[in-house]
Amino acid sequence: MRAMKRIVILISGRGSNMEAIVRAARQERWPADIAAIISNRPDASGLAFASAHGIPTAVVSNKEYPTREAFDDALQAVIDRFSPDLVVLAGFLRILTGSFVEYYAGRIINIHPSLLPSFPGLATHRQALAAGVKVHGATVHFVTADLDHGPIVAQAAVPVLADDTEEILSARVLAQEHLIYPSAIRWFVEGKLSVDNGRVHIATATQ
Ligand code: GAR
Repeated sequence: MRAMKRIVILISGRGSNMEAIVRAARQERWPADIAAIISNRPDASGLAFASAHGIPTAVVSNKEYPTREAFDDALQAVIDRFSPDLVVLAGFLRILTGSFVEYYAGRIINIHPSLLPSFPGLATHRQALAAGVKVHGATVHFVTADLDHGPIVAQAAVPVLADDTEEILSARVLAQEHLIYPSAIRWFVEGKLSVDNGRVHIATATQ
């Protein structure tokens, strides 16, 4: 019997990616436990889904800490209570300090709603529409101190259509996020990912 990997998921709001991960982990019987869902916002609607599914939740409100460092220290302490093998950022809308990211190096992963390295930062769908690109998408990547630039695990592309609004485009991208994020995390928990020189290798054969 393989050891179960422990996953802690961080959210800030809706948590639809978190839901997709929880559902896939259970339906596909991953060798993994979703150990906790942690939010930096007490009103994050994703917390209700977590509780309804019997997953421990915690809130570490950034408003209660005077500095980024103090918040990240508190967050790290709460995360570590759940002894994670992997920390998953799922719409966690906070810039993390270098020392926090370094502490979880190789075991912290993020999804970003653009085809990185295009459109890091916020309002990615607006950025894509303004740039006039014909394809857009989402990227799952390991988190490094370089914001939105870590080694890429998976990407999905969608077309940008003539009548797209930010809302329509973001929904098209989100549907892809819900597919690539669970599969990327499954690869991680199955031990299939390795990083070499900033590039992610995915072991394909069953070894
Ligand atoms: C997702 O589109 C995710 O890619 C994005 O926030 C949304 C969260 O939705 N993340 C970022 O923009 C990170 N920079 P969700 O809460 O329903 O998963």
